[in-house]
Amino acid sequence: MVIRIAAVGDVHLDEDVVGRFRPALEELPECADVLLLAGDLTRHGTEAEARCVAQEFGGLAVPVVTVLGNHDHQCDQVPQVVKVLEDAGITVLEGNGVVLDCAGGRLGIAGVKGFGGGFAGRCASDFGEPEMKSFVRTTNESADRLGEALRSLECDMLVALTHYAPVPDTLVGEPLEIYPFLGSYQLGQAIDSAPTALALHGHAHAGTERGMTPGGVRVRNVAHPVIKQAYSVFHVGDQLDTDQVSPIGGSGIQRSWS
Ligand SMILES: [Fe+2]
Ligand SMILES: [Fe+2]
Repeated sequence: MVIRIAAVGDVHLDEDVVGRFRPALEELPECADVLLLAGDLTRHGTEAEARCVAQEFGGLAVPVVTVLGNHDHQCDQVPQVVKVLEDAGITVLEGNGVVLDCAGGRLGIAGVKGFGGGFAGRCASDFGEPEMKSFVRTTNESADRLGEALRSLECDMLVALTHYAPVPDTLVGEPLEIYPFLGSYQLGQAIDSAPTALALHGHAHAGTERGMTPGGVRVRNVAHPVIKQAYSVFHVGDQLDTDQVSPIGGSGIQRSWS
């Protein structure tokens, strides 16, 4: 039993990018059961940019599930952005989950944008000024919602989808000074609180693709500048957890652009 998951984050769409992903997206049914988007779909979170996302990622032959990223919040138009995406058939998760019936079984996806805060030994703490307590409370609440969503889904395979990173492994390449703004260890704890098979995130454009939670869950940074292709494909299953890597052009599916 294998479920095939395509994923990409940080596509940062505006009018000038529309059409660049679409040829590869049309090939999705050949290699994937679902497409997951790890946030930062837009540059500034405008309704107009969301319409570009809907045009590019709407109406595909596989289900599309997304979380939003920090860029998608920039213009304070989140409700409008979400409506445009949902009208295009894209499922938007924020502290909740969805179960999809795939050929290889029931895939549970729990998603949250997440937040910063840093990682064990180098993290913000719930102490001092109200602003700092508010910052850490946002981190904790976001991670709590992810954990609750993960533990609530009845499915055969479980995937966590976030924008911010749950581990520092996939941040390697970014300046150490900004790690606390790229993710938080609480997300990793939430992922480890359930039998998660795979954790996908974006946000760290200069990071590294592969990592692992302290509990041993496979973490992949699918930010487009990291994976350098329209999407990566991951297989999850009873006996097979692999990153499906097709040589460019070798499978007849051209998934890359630069
Ligand atoms: Fe981004
Ligand atoms: Fe981001």
